[in-house]
Amino acid sequence: MTSLNNILEKAYKEHSLSKDEILSLLNSDGEELYKYADRVREENVGDGVHLRGLIEFSNICKCSCKYCGLRSPNTKIERYRLEPDEIIKYAKQGTELGYKTIVLQSGEDSFYDTEKLCYIISEIKKFDTAITLSIGEKTLEEYKAYKDAGADRYLLRIETTDEELYKTMHPKMSLENRKQCLYNIKKLGYEVGTGCLVGLPNQTVESLADDILFFKELDADMIGIGPFIPHPDTPLKGELNPKNFDMALKVMAIVRMLLPDINIPATTAMETINPMGRIIALKSGANVVMPNILDTEYKVKYEIYPNKICLNEHSGKCRNCIEGKIKSIGRFVSETKGFHRGK
Ligand code: 5AD
Ligand code: FES
Repeated sequence: MTSLNNILEKAYKEHSLSKDEILSLLNSDGEELYKYADRVREENVGDGVHLRGLIEFSNICKCSCKYCGLRSPNTKIERYRLEPDEIIKYAKQGTELGYKTIVLQSGEDSFYDTEKLCYIISEIKKFDTAITLSIGEKTLEEYKAYKDAGADRYLLRIETTDEELYKTMHPKMSLENRKQCLYNIKKLGYEVGTGCLVGLPNQTVESLADDILFFKELDADMIGIGPFIPHPDTPLKGELNPKNFDMALKVMAIVRMLLPDINIPATTAMETINPMGRIIALKSGANVVMPNILDTEYKVKYEIYPNKICLNEHSGKCRNCIEGKIKSIGRFVSETKGFHRGK
């Protein structure tokens, strides 16, 4: 057996790898890795794909992340924010389309104080749906209030665990605080989701290996990995590097090997740079898809990166389209809320 096969066999049996072994996989062409990751996915979480209905309810953000189109210094973007009752209305539509989880995502927008958010969460909870929040860094008390109001899961990507790169990418933010937020979220009993960007300028393969080891150490319940896509109205504008897709796919597949039963989305960013991106991801370890359920006017404005998919598709159409794609590869849409370890 080649050493690559030895590493994959070890990952398959032990779900644990050294940094050097992770690096060998990241430097491989990925073909064997994807097959193993697909098998680990099948044996641990089965053929069901969980659909999460995504509501991007405000693109107003106080942060200045260098890569993100929503960054506050970007004056070209047209800003919007949905009223609480509008958010609840979309969530209801989502559950009527069959979504068993509603994901509420926004920029870091302080308009939505704890009272408003708890109202939104508790109203949506009445539709018998799981709720995932993805609204950034908050205090322990705020996280607790949302949890008490009924939120089940929280997504907060670490983006990168490389201290230097983190500082360059996130003015006025700290890696330490971001990690603390994740530990707070975990302590409060949420299912914890994190993840990273792949292909940021000056990001090393070594730091991607560290990101993967961090996910394992945190014992995350969900990991979302996306290729970096340059946005023209940010300091990182420029050419898209097509290699970011393969590297993101490799990171995702290794995560499946090391955290065999967690939820891993086939991310929208993957499909943005490869027309088959989500299907390829679903066949390389992923078991979740998160279609947007808002109307076009909002989808267009939530421009984290350019050329997002499905901008003109009605949410009902996306629901059917993605189900067709899932069935075309012999998988099925899960009927459960899709908690990690079936909780
Ligand atoms: N390209 C790809 N993904 C991006 N994100 C932000 N900006 C970009 C970009 N230019 C990702 C971040 C964030 C998630 C909501 O979107 O990882 O956590
Ligand atoms: Fe939106 Fe296919 S998932 S049109």
